[in-house]
Amino acid sequence: MALRRLLHGSVLPRVSGRAFAPAVAPFSTEAGETVRATLFPGDGIGPEIAESVKQVFNVAGVPIEWEEHYVGTEVDPRTESFLTWESLESVRRNKVGLKGPMATPIGKGHRSLNLTLRKELGLYANVRPCNSLPGYKTRYDDVNLVTIRENTEGEYSGLEHQVVRGVVESLKIITRQASLRVAEYAFHYAKANGRERVSAIHKANIMRKTDGLFLKCCREVAEKYPEIQYEEVIIDNCCMTLVKNPGLFDVLVMPNLYGDIISDLCAGLIGGLGLTPSCNIGEGGICLAEAVHGSAPDIAGKVS
Ligand code: IPM
Ligand code: MG
Repeated sequence: MALRRLLHGSVLPRVSGRAFAPAVAPFSTEAGETVRATLFPGDGIGPEIAESVKQVFNVAGVPIEWEEHYVGTEVDPRTESFLTWESLESVRRNKVGLKGPMATPIGKGHRSLNLTLRKELGLYANVRPCNSLPGYKTRYDDVNLVTIRENTEGEYSGLEHQVVRGVVESLKIITRQASLRVAEYAFHYAKANGRERVSAIHKANIMRKTDGLFLKCCREVAEKYPEIQYEEVIIDNCCMTLVKNPGLFDVLVMPNLYGDIISDLCAGLIGGLGLTPSCNIGEGGICLAEAVHGSAPDIAGKVS
């Protein structure tokens, strides 16, 4: 649908839709078929917002059939999390899905459900378009950038251990394969969406090996796209420039943790996490869109 088109350009089969209009003029796909999509309502306010999403799609006449999957209460040994194997199979089969917020314990408990989804489904790139919204005034009027984050490794590899009491270690994994894959996606995205520049965000002056390899991969891919400008920006300078003049950026590609932080910073430029769309792109053309805000359990069920 529009989201697929936005995120993949010409890679996936196109499904065209008419302008947003009431149910009398339903969206039609080229083949006239109904799209089957997996829906994870998620935790906290998730089920409420999922209900609203379904209403909006319904009123717009989008020919979509939701296949709902809930987070379980028991750990499924096949996924090592509260997400069942069947729910992951549903995304693999449908290739398109939407997830609400899923609660993540801080510093303890089971593996994050977000991470389980990314790992098990090979969701290698996280795309967060960030645009100033007309009618929602913030300090900036000209934000029009996209963050593309490596989604499977880096500091999120989950390799942490205690060396001796009082000393712990966390391994940041950067591989050529994952770096090339996300860089390819970023340049492809830029080209398919008429973007002019890709900025690789890094700290290779300090993390010479890990971020150094990431940059090397970005440079290799950049050579294949001479029509797209390529630049490298050190992450701290990137943060300063983003808050000073976000209009200077176009497409940003970066390793996992930097992407987590920078995408929140960018969300702040346009009004917050509730206004930021996000999609996880996986092998075989999977796209799993998601709410980027938390599950807000304190206000769940309180809005009438
Ligand atoms: C995000 C979130 C997640 C992350 C959390 C909930 C694990 O902040 O999608 O940006 O850190 O990746
Ligand atoms: Mg985040």
